[in-house]
Amino acid sequence: MNSVYTTTITRAARARGLRVAVLDSSQPVFELRRGREAVRCYNALTDRVGAATFFLANHKHAANQFLRRHGFPVPAQLKFGGFAAAKKFLAQHQRIVVKPCMQWGGRGVAVDVRTPAELRAAVRLARTFEDEVVLEQCVRGEDQRLILVGGRYVAAIRRTPAAVTGDGRRTLAQLIRRQNRRACAVDPSHRIPLDAETRRQLARLGRRLADVPRAGERVQVRLTSNYHTGGDAAVITGAVTPQLRRVAQRVAKLFGLPLVGIDFLVDAPHRKFWIIEVSPDLAISPPEGDTVVEFFLDDLFPGSRRKQQAVCCPTPGKARGHPSKAWKARNKKRPAT
Ligand SMILES: Nc1ncnc2c1ncn2[C@@H]1O[C@H](COP(=O)(O)OP(=O)(O)O)[C@@H](O)[C@H]1O
Ligand SMILES: [Mg+2]
Repeated sequence: MNSVYTTTITRAARARGLRVAVLDSSQPVFELRRGREAVRCYNALTDRVGAATFFLANHKHAANQFLRRHGFPVPAQLKFGGFAAAKKFLAQHQRIVVKPCMQWGGRGVAVDVRTPAELRAAVRLARTFEDEVVLEQCVRGEDQRLILVGGRYVAAIRRTPAAVTGDGRRTLAQLIRRQNRRACAVDPSHRIPLDAETRRQLARLGRRLADVPRAGERVQVRLTSNYHTGGDAAVITGAVTPQLRRVAQRVAKLFGLPLVGIDFLVDAPHRKFWIIEVSPDLAISPPEGDTVVEFFLDDLFPGSRRKQQAVCCPTPGKARGHPSKAWKARNKKRPAT
């Protein structure tokens, strides 16, 4: 029960006088209570999200088709139903992504698949997680997750794939292990897998795990930008374009999700973007979690709102009129996001 995905919520909840009842200590299942009101949570997923809505957003093919039908930009997709059609899809798009339909954290995802042999291996990998697999057009762009609470844009992070920096002595395998040891001391789930997918990415770069990169040379060892495959995240709330925020707001409304993370791949130079994922159960965790959690709790228990919460608003001018002197004074005390 006690991981950063629960404690970021439970600590903030207690700080505003909410009660926390653990329903199963072996699972992240708990209830937040205020007087007679109670909301059941599984990490940040609450009973306010209907089961059908959860499925529609969480199932990668269902979400992709739903978004496409409503005119949102999504990569082309094909649900895997045999190799003949899969090879045709690959020939059509040249570079594709293969992923299981209902997983998370980059599990079973193969990016930039280019040959029929890679396709077979990628489908086999995805199928170790579940039977339903999608093939998706591989698009290029910066990975930006926009987070909305109650339909309102509250934070964004830029996610980057795992990379290591050479020291002229250690091999890539040693650098990865070293980075994993450091990362795992903080969070065991934040590790770069030393698997076929990492080796495939290195082969793309003409490298092998036994190679020794030059001192200061940065090598991107993974293509997925997930935290759970060793990727990193930086808060970019103020830097997201108004257009992307508006699109995210329309997506949140379409799905009717009270808390949602919408993942875009943004190709700014070509003024293009695609939505690759809609997360109804996103992690509320660092680096943006302390901001998001206050909006999350405000939304669940409006009566528990602390006066100070207003300072979290990332766009005071837009959302609430121009910031008052008091807003500015209070906001100084908080780290910028
Ligand atoms: N169509 C795509 N084109 C390029 N990269 C992609 C595409 N789809 C996914 N990726 C990369 O793979 C990662 C994981 O894929 P995603 O669909 O988000 O699955 P998960 O639910 O496991 O996070 C993404 O964060 C992104 O870095
Ligand atoms: Mg994802």
